[in-house]
Amino acid sequence: MTETTAAALPSRLPSRLTTAFDIPRPPGLTWYVQAQQPIGYEISLTRGLLSPANPALAKAVGADGRGGVRALVVVDRVVDELYGTALRAYFDAWRTDATWVVMPGDEETKSLEQVVEVTRAMTEMGILRRTERVVVVGGGVLMDVVGMAASLYRRGAPYIRVPTTLIGQVDAGVGVKTGVNDGTHKNRLGTYYAPEVTLIDPEFLRTVPARHIANGLAEIIKMALIKDADLFRLLEETVAHISSDTLADCGAAMSEVVSRAIAGMLDELEPNLWEGVLERSVDYGHTFSPSLELRADPPLLHGEAVGVDMAVCVALAAGRQYVSTADAHRALALIAAAGLPLTHPVFTPELLQVGLADAVKHRDGLQRLPLTNGIGSCVFVNDITAAELSRALDFVHAYADQTDGPDQ
Ligand SMILES: NC(=O)c1ccc[n+]([C@@H]2O[C@H](COP(=O)([O-])OP(=O)(O)OC[C@H]3O[C@@H](n4cnc5c(N)ncnc54)[C@H](O)[C@@H]3O)[C@@H](O)[C@H]2O)c1
Ligand SMILES: [Zn+2]
Repeated sequence: MTETTAAALPSRLPSRLTTAFDIPRPPGLTWYVQAQQPIGYEISLTRGLLSPANPALAKAVGADGRGGVRALVVVDRVVDELYGTALRAYFDAWRTDATWVVMPGDEETKSLEQVVEVTRAMTEMGILRRTERVVVVGGGVLMDVVGMAASLYRRGAPYIRVPTTLIGQVDAGVGVKTGVNDGTHKNRLGTYYAPEVTLIDPEFLRTVPARHIANGLAEIIKMALIKDADLFRLLEETVAHISSDTLADCGAAMSEVVSRAIAGMLDELEPNLWEGVLERSVDYGHTFSPSLELRADPPLLHGEAVGVDMAVCVALAAGRQYVSTADAHRALALIAAAGLPLTHPVFTPELLQVGLADAVKHRDGLQRLPLTNGIGSCVFVNDITAAELSRALDFVHAYADQTDGPDQ
């Protein structure tokens, strides 16, 4: 803390009390506070997380098998049906006294009410402020909801993430963002709040439906397009074989796909955790998609909207010769082969402009639109015109019609 004052005082506290109330004439007294908060958290990829022989989750909640440890475990309703018995057996084996909250993990329920439901459960349990943990087991929705609850409860309580969807494992479970929707505004309310640890077990993916695997692949393709040409080629080679089972089996190729995606994401996030810099390459595919995601009826999954957004961004890059037409077609082919849509009836030139205008507000007055600069690298632009948006849409539609792709 430093002081700036017209008549500088010798220390923060005046020596004679009477002077404390003797406010000097303008500019008066000004104090400036500066502090830094170190952030550190771990992301571990592990197998057999729910096997009592695996100590990772027990260690994360501070259990050593001797009892006397409590935790609040918030589980996605679907995950509870599939893995609830194994989860309970795990905590029993480690003699952890778990309080259970089971809640839906769907986009429609991702609201402030859900956050308050979690904080109320923390209050009811009387969770200790620093030593007892909240564990969230579920997809991206529950990661965001419980992370936000943990950040608000007594202004910050420790929590542990166990993501169970592909998007949770490569994206939502990896960074520090929490949030909920407000009306049609995606993630309008939220915080930055790191977990103590994220524990990723690919085995959870075995039960994830194909549509939700494609959903997660969108974020992996994003990382490939903006920063990892090797990952792009690996995806081209393997995409036809990527499934819940192959991801859960986690052989060499799938392990490389998932690890490269996580490592690339962390590389981008770590130097810019609080988004002080608004040119974020990980925003690729996230400029127009928020407007589409909640407007589409029936609603699109997050990754599906990202797929449609990435397709138009690939076309925008081709329009500016940042990528060759051949590479643009490779990118569109990969997005389609992953089972993602390239176009959507709601995704019109008008909606693109609405989306871009909203992104400009989110990005503090400039477009800061990430585009691929050759596959595997990224450039930011601020001068995309309405005409370019229309031409880019035409480019994608022409490709989709010609390949008879999944044009919806
Ligand atoms: N905070 C971030 O940085 C960040 C990053 C990316 C995405 N997100 C958010 O994540 C959300 C999308 O995540 P999501 O796709 O995981 O959605 P989700 O949490 O809704 O999960 C999708 C569906 O899968 C079910 N499910 C979860 N695990 C399962 C399993 N192992 N087997 C079978 N079914 C399972 C859920 O019940 C749900 O119905 C969006 O709200 C998005 O905004 C946040
Ligand atoms: Zn995303």
